This record gives sequence, structure tokens and C-alpha cells, in this order.
Amino acid sequence: MSDTVYLNGDYLPLADARISVMDRGFLFGDGVYEVIPVYNGRLFRFEDHIRRLNNSLRAIRLELEKSPDQWRGIFQPMLDGDKDQYIYLQITRGCAPRRDHGFPEHVVPTVFAMCNDIKPFAGRLTGIKAVTLDDTRWQMCHVKATALLAHLLLRQEALDRDCAEAILVRHGYVTEGAASNLFAVIDDELITPPNSHEILPGITRDVILELAQANGIACREDIIALEALQNASEVWVTSSTREIVPVVELDGQTVGAGTPGPLFHRMDQLLQAYKQSQA
Ligand code: PDD
Repeated sequence: MSDTVYLNGDYLPLADARISVMDRGFLFGDGVYEVIPVYNGRLFRFEDHIRRLNNSLRAIRLELEKSPDQWRGIFQPMLDGDKDQYIYLQITRGCAPRRDHGFPEHVVPTVFAMCNDIKPFAGRLTGIKAVTLDDTRWQMCHVKATALLAHLLLRQEALDRDCAEAILVRHGYVTEGAASNLFAVIDDELITPPNSHEILPGITRDVILELAQANGIACREDIIALEALQNASEVWVTSSTREIVPVVELDGQTVGAGTPGPLFHRMDQLLQAYKQSQA
């Protein structure tokens, strides 16, 4: 991890970065964030991440106008061209003199960014176990909000059951993972739930949909009933930091042959080639 972080206009060592206990991010989780991969020193799908950031800011009524180039200028000094990294960017509504639920006037948002190494996730190649759990989150899951307590409880419940991810279920159909989007191969077709307020519009998800379309892989966005997921020949979860991760065991039952499936291998190759082409 780069020791230098960005906080409100300054670059400083992580150990010296300080915010007030009155920051609304600390008191209320009143903020949004982004996680942007960096390959070979180049920010991956950067404009898409900034567009999603702006949508999140708008959704929580936080006004902060910066162009993609201004953000790029902020991140650039923290990047190391030789490593796979990701930028973590967090923006909170800032500090108010009093703790009050209503939005304060004339506050300056807190802007924090750091750059971490992407650690290869072992489960990406071996596959992982996952468990389905009730989606206990709120009605604005399309917003990348820092208030992640429901996600954390769900992920921890999965870990406690020796699983790497929780797959979330609302009204009998699956939405996404605790920190990932979801794909299933059903009757040789790749299916992912449609974007809505029930899921985060994942950037990795978009890339996979584009790659499927460009390479003649049958693919559609549709709701997936829990029962259909349990009978899928492949299940994947996807995110910027872990890429495509095959689920080989779901609720204690083997998925497909119990190993990463053929479409996973194909899509993973396509994704690696696409990353190279962008880096
Ligand atoms: N999370 N859904 C949720 C709830 C997520 O938290 C994430 C990613 C995704 C995948 O989105 P993307 O492909 O844009 O990374 C879907 C990040 C990595 C995190 O919170 O660290």
C-alpha cells in the first residue's frame, strides 16, 4: 500500500491523516465511496466509476462538482505503474458543529483517497463456497454508500459458515452478493439480475455483459429465482477487486461439477485480455 494518502487537498502519510469526530461520515455513515482498479498505472473504466460516483452523490444530495480530469489529477501522485492497485475514494458530507440528523448548511465535504495493492484472491481460480441469506439491506442499494453495516453482517455470517460470500435473496429471487454482483449460467445462457434500486450497478458486471455480447455468448439481464440459482450449472460473483469468482458450492450443494465451469474460464480469459488492452 502506498503510505501517502489524500485528504482534503493534502497528500500526507496515512498515520498523519486525521478527521474530526464530528465528521458526519463518522457519526452517521453519511457519505459515499468508490473502488477503482488501476492496472499498469492506468485507472480502469475510469469514466464509468466517476459517473457512478456522481450518481451516488446526487442520490444522497451531496453537492461536489469535479471533472474526471480533476479526480485523475488527485489520484495520479499515489499510483505506482508496476503494481495492480485500487483507489479507494470516500466523500462524506463533512463536519457540522452539532450532531443533528438534518443536513447542515455551509459544510465542506470531506474527501479522502488512498491507494492499495490488489491482492490476488485465491478463490478466483479454485472457486468459493457461498451461502444464500435474506437481503436485509435498504431500498437504495444502487447507491455506493459508506453505511455498510448490513453488508458487513451478511458477509460475516457467510464467513462464520465457512463461506467466502453471501448471496442475497429478496422475495424469493436473488439480487447480488454482499460485496459483489451475481451471474448464473442456466440452460447454457448467462443471466444476471437487471440494474435497479436493489443492486449496485457494478462496473465489472457491465464489462462482462459487453464482453459476452461482443463474443457471441448468450447472455441476458433477468430476475433469477432462488430455485433457478440452485439448479444453475455455473454461478459467479464479480467485483473490481476480485474480478470473476466462481461459486462451486452453494448452501452446501455442489454447483455444476463442483469446479469452475467452462464459461467461467472463457469469460475470465476475455476479461484478462480486455484488462491488458486497457492498461
Ligand atoms: N464492492 N455489489 C456490491 C454490494 C458491492 O459492494 C460491489 C463492489 C459490487 C461490484 O461492483 P464493481 O464491479 O463496480 O466493483 C456489487 C467493492 C469492491 C467494495 O465495497 O470494496
